[in-house]
Amino acid sequence: MLKNTLLVTGTAGFIGSACARLLMDEYDFHLVSLDALTYAGHLSTLLPIMDNPRHTFVHGDIADTALVTRLLDEHRPRAILNFAAESHVDRSILGPETFVQTNVVGTLRLLECARAYWNGMDEADKAAFRYLQVSTDEVYGTLKPEDPAFTEDTPYAPNSPYAASKAAADHLVRAWHETYGMPVLTTHCGNNYGPWQFPEKLIPLVITQALAGGDLPIYGDGMQVRDWIYMEDHVRGILAVLEKGRVGERYNIGGFGETFNLNIVHTICDTLDSIKPRSDGQSYRTQIRFVKDRPGHDRRYAISPAKTSGELGWSPRESVATGLRKTIEWYVANGEWVKQVKDKGFRDWLEAQYAQRMAHGKGLAASSAQASGSSAG
Ligand code: NAD
Ligand code: TYD
Repeated sequence: MLKNTLLVTGTAGFIGSACARLLMDEYDFHLVSLDALTYAGHLSTLLPIMDNPRHTFVHGDIADTALVTRLLDEHRPRAILNFAAESHVDRSILGPETFVQTNVVGTLRLLECARAYWNGMDEADKAAFRYLQVSTDEVYGTLKPEDPAFTEDTPYAPNSPYAASKAAADHLVRAWHETYGMPVLTTHCGNNYGPWQFPEKLIPLVITQALAGGDLPIYGDGMQVRDWIYMEDHVRGILAVLEKGRVGERYNIGGFGETFNLNIVHTICDTLDSIKPRSDGQSYRTQIRFVKDRPGHDRRYAISPAKTSGELGWSPRESVATGLRKTIEWYVANGEWVKQVKDKGFRDWLEAQYAQRMAHGKGLAASSAQASGSSAG
């Protein structure tokens, strides 16, 4: 008999932890959360729910078949939500292998554990069980300015090692449905932002660098477009798909947030100028630096959530303007968290990653070595 329990992976990361917190705050599920605590996983993101009796945290790898099998047998979840992944495109360019290991082999192992578990169920439980794969819009490749937004029928054309590894995982999930009849669902979302995001992705990197008085690196001309969504809107979309999505289908989740990178960075600078002005009276925009472009850099993403909204009644609550403001305020107020998660490994990464991009061949000026959250200038 299945229980009202979800096994959610990658729960110490940015979006997985948002899902875990929301599940505890607004739903009555029991939650078993599994995370390998890589550089991107931080238990501090789960602090608000660590003592919740409905939550069990397990430190482990999705590729650990024995562990996952034991968790499924013990907890009898009615669904598995797979958020666990290596998720940063720049890291995938510097070192693709861990992306294949976690995103492809990890998903394969999780699917195989799920299949064995599912095969042992009676017909009613088999029909009720769901495996949900959290994918990305990046599997669809890049768009020209005049192209329509990605739909669920857009052909796959991944360009980065990250996107290729996520696409491979999606193909496995699809095949496990077609071949074994597994009740799977797949979601594709645009770029997420919000509180608790590890400061290596554009928005938290720029906010924390700005506050630390550092360089704000813009790849190429900064006119790339991303379709931004507040992470809680993404999570609510995933939970709508879990509850009401049709088995075997894919669902796009988008926040109507198409914006040029440079506009995002300008908005962050202008917001900081008003809520935490630099002590020298200059704008944070003076910290912007144009640096060498990312290889294979996708020019534009845009994702149509029409199917998800039409079928499931989901729509995003935040606009880029409201969500970004909340996010910037959160980082201003939570410099301590930022300091905690930026360890020496993070500083080494910034040095290696940006040295190739900056004209002077050194990492970012005034990066995480300086206290974040303090006023610049
Ligand atoms: P993240 O990098 O912040 O977190 C990933 C989490 O997975 C970390 O806590 C890490 O410790 C954990 N993890 C990594 N390898 C693991 C393994 N082998 N076993 C167990 N746990 C492991 O990522 P995120 O931004 O929260 O993204 C979550 C999911 O959403 C990913 O699948 C990603 O591809 C997808 N996604 C992200 C975005 C985005 O903008 N961030 C957009 C669309 C889809
Ligand atoms: P990122 O947050 O890494 O997400 P993704 O590559 O998955 O879209 O990057 C978002 C956009 O911002 C992307 O076009 C690359 C760009 N970018 C910069 O210009 N500078 C940076 O330092 C980073 C990290 C990203």
